[in-house]
Amino acid sequence: MITGKYPSLRLRRTRKYNWSRRLVQENNLSCNDLIYPIFLIDGKNKKQPIKSMPGVHRYSIDRLGIIINNVIKHKIPMVALFPSTPNSKKDKFGLEALNENNLVCRAIRFIKKRFKNNIGIMSDVALDPYTTHGHDGLLKKNYVANDETIDILIKQSLLQAQMGCDVIAPSDMMDGRIGKIRKSLDKNKFHDVQILSYAVKYASNFYGPFRDAVGSKKSLKSDKKNYQMDFSNKNESLREVALDIKEGADMVMVKPGLPYLDIIQRIKENFKIPVLAYQVSGEYSLIKNGINNKLINEDAIIESLMSFKRAGASAIVSYFALEISKKIKS
Ligand code: PBG
Repeated sequence: MITGKYPSLRLRRTRKYNWSRRLVQENNLSCNDLIYPIFLIDGKNKKQPIKSMPGVHRYSIDRLGIIINNVIKHKIPMVALFPSTPNSKKDKFGLEALNENNLVCRAIRFIKKRFKNNIGIMSDVALDPYTTHGHDGLLKKNYVANDETIDILIKQSLLQAQMGCDVIAPSDMMDGRIGKIRKSLDKNKFHDVQILSYAVKYASNFYGPFRDAVGSKKSLKSDKKNYQMDFSNKNESLREVALDIKEGADMVMVKPGLPYLDIIQRIKENFKIPVLAYQVSGEYSLIKNGINNKLINEDAIIESLMSFKRAGASAIVSYFALEISKKIKS
């Protein structure tokens, strides 16, 4: 029976006004939570649109000054660099990874020289931008070889550290990477270079636009299921993270983002290490296309980013980082 007291508790009371909603807000999205990915290309004064990622461009290194200035102005703490390597510089061994004048190395030097330690730089350690077959490691009888690839990855890490990279991000999802790379960094006096492990990276269908952006889409003939994780699995992600923490990772990444919020939350509950989320290219393009076609509202971007915070992520790599930082301002 309905009495005068119905309902006895009204949760809507704190939702009634904007000031009140702000007061009880449980999570917050700040510019400090964002990492901005930048695609690099050869050439001069180039800003090249990427068809599969509306609003995202590839930039030549001479244009990085303007972008990084903007990134710093909007309080984003770190950028992630991704090279679009010309096919002529790819081979089956990914040797361009060790060229100190490759795109990533030149970009790191340029940014560090200009901006010193006012911005963090992270770069991937994996061979996929440099191999003709598009895989992250060396092929042996058509199988991506685990142990044979470690030497070149160690060299790639040391080279990037030498160029001034702050955060080395091994991203090939193979075994035994973090310990070996940490050891070599320490031995070469790079104790302060951080390691962000892509500890939990799924063999995902959401990477398509990225592979287009870096030019590995056409070359990649098969999938990456024999090294990246099966998207049906959850417990395995805890084993991956436990191993990488033991080997010396400073931070771990979960990738992709939105379809894997359960994974972020579970890792955060189990390990008190910074967990980063990667809102990948496919997620970006879906949301962006939805907005461009007026199917969803622009605020869907903040909603998607806030969900990572709710799940427990410390930071989010997102192609929306710069445009959203202009909006949230703090
Ligand atoms: C591989 C790498 C991938 C992405 C970044 N580095 C995935 C892949 O090709 O397997 C994808 C990022 C995105 O989709 O935004 N080292």
